[in-house]
Amino acid sequence: MRFTDQVVVVTGAGQGIGLATARLAAREGAKVAVCDRDPGSVSSTVARIREEGGVAIGVCGDVSNLTQVRANVDEVMQAYGRIDVLINNAGILKHTPARLVEEAQWRREIDVCLTGAFFWAQTAAVASMIPRKQGAIVNLGSGAAVAGAPGSTSYCAAKHGVVGLTRALCVEWGQYNIRVNCVCPGITATEMTMSVARDYPERIRQREQRIPLGHMAQPDDQAKAILFLASSDAASISGHILSVDGGTAALSSGYSAPRDGH
Ligand SMILES: NC(=O)c1ccc[n+]([C@@H]2O[C@H](COP(=O)([O-])OP(=O)(O)OC[C@H]3O[C@@H](n4cnc5c(N)ncnc54)[C@H](O)[C@@H]3O)[C@@H](O)[C@H]2O)c1
Repeated sequence: MRFTDQVVVVTGAGQGIGLATARLAAREGAKVAVCDRDPGSVSSTVARIREEGGVAIGVCGDVSNLTQVRANVDEVMQAYGRIDVLINNAGILKHTPARLVEEAQWRREIDVCLTGAFFWAQTAAVASMIPRKQGAIVNLGSGAAVAGAPGSTSYCAAKHGVVGLTRALCVEWGQYNIRVNCVCPGITATEMTMSVARDYPERIRQREQRIPLGHMAQPDDQAKAILFLASSDAASISGHILSVDGGTAALSSGYSAPRDGH
């Protein structure tokens, strides 16, 4: 039980990778705070964790809205008294060719994926981690955080920014014993992937063919990597960018993944 009595906040915990991470943290003894912009999914995640014997509260808010982030952090502090671990997981993706991206889409993806991660990190650190000189933050990057991806300019730019944010906070907050790391999922079986699959079925099939391990990840695969970096097992790891992608990031040579035994 690596998180016994630790307070773990997961943003975007209403479904997908965030849901899997919140449930796994609770199974490992954490007091979980479930954050999502969707009230129904906050309630259902909290109910599911409690049914499984875990401890959870829900806080509803949009990570890109600083007033709501401050209110959410206040709620967590009132309920639990501290924040030990922050998982900045909330993210959105809309596939659009760069020439057609409108201002609203550009701003929204940067706001949710990048600015939201900074708002949560800063607010949680000031409220709890810096005064207590203890904390671990895991930001969610993407394969699109470490390489270009077609049709996702604003997402790609935001996720590359998350890598920079991770490194900048790691360097500045090490003095407060706060570790800051980043998990970069490859394609993972969640609603985000399914929504792309509905619009561009070929794109998902082609991407799966290029994964050296041959299959997309499950949300639990990401949750395990996220919680490794958040746990004391990673006590000396900070500023690390961990790809959880079946080897996809290693395949940057222009070749395809072999399927013929070579
Ligand atoms: N699924 C993948 O293949 C994949 C690949 C690479 C990176 N990622 C990243 O992993 C993270 C989780 O992805 P997922 O596939 O589970 O996504 P998902 O779309 O299945 O779930 C995202 C959750 O975040 C919530 N959310 C969205 N915007 C929010 C906001 N402004 N404030 C609060 N909550 C918000 C949604 O309501 C939802 O519950 C994201 O950061 C995503 O970019 C996912």
